[in-house]
Amino acid sequence: MSERTARKSDVLSTHARQVIDSWLDKYPPDQRQSAVLAALQEAQHENGGWLSRELMDGVADYIGMPEIAVYEVATFYSMFELEPVGRHCISVCTNISCMLCGGDELLSYIENRLGIQVGQSTSDGKFFLKQEEECLAACRGAPMMQVDHVYYENLTPEKVDEILDNLE
Ligand code: FES
Repeated sequence: MSERTARKSDVLSTHARQVIDSWLDKYPPDQRQSAVLAALQEAQHENGGWLSRELMDGVADYIGMPEIAVYEVATFYSMFELEPVGRHCISVCTNISCMLCGGDELLSYIENRLGIQVGQSTSDGKFFLKQEEECLAACRGAPMMQVDHVYYENLTPEKVDEILDNLE
């Protein structure tokens, strides 16, 4: 009986493989690279919000893509983090509509409250204040932010306090 050779994709969980397989099923067999975004998202989600080199290599191996092509995707899209980050990801929109409605002041308020600047995580590992995003497509509710992909709109400092206070 031959022993199975270790593969870089072994780093992916069974669940991650199932999720990736479900995406691969949507594309023709010669277009497996189309699943790379979903695969990286799942790998990142299971890894506490960031992608290690090993995970990117695992995705490349599983999908059958060159590793460099996966790094290019992971570094191009702002939704991917390549270093460890806090558990709750906060994205404050400071694009034009939000800026006109106090988005910059809101961002400063959050920076002061958490004692960090954009791009940093709190030392207790609870919060990550993501680099400023482009318009998050909720201009009618400006100023707004996303926390763990949930939209919060028409924000005031009091509302921000309430939202952050209620996170575990
Ligand atoms: S400018 Fe902030 S959601 Fe559009």
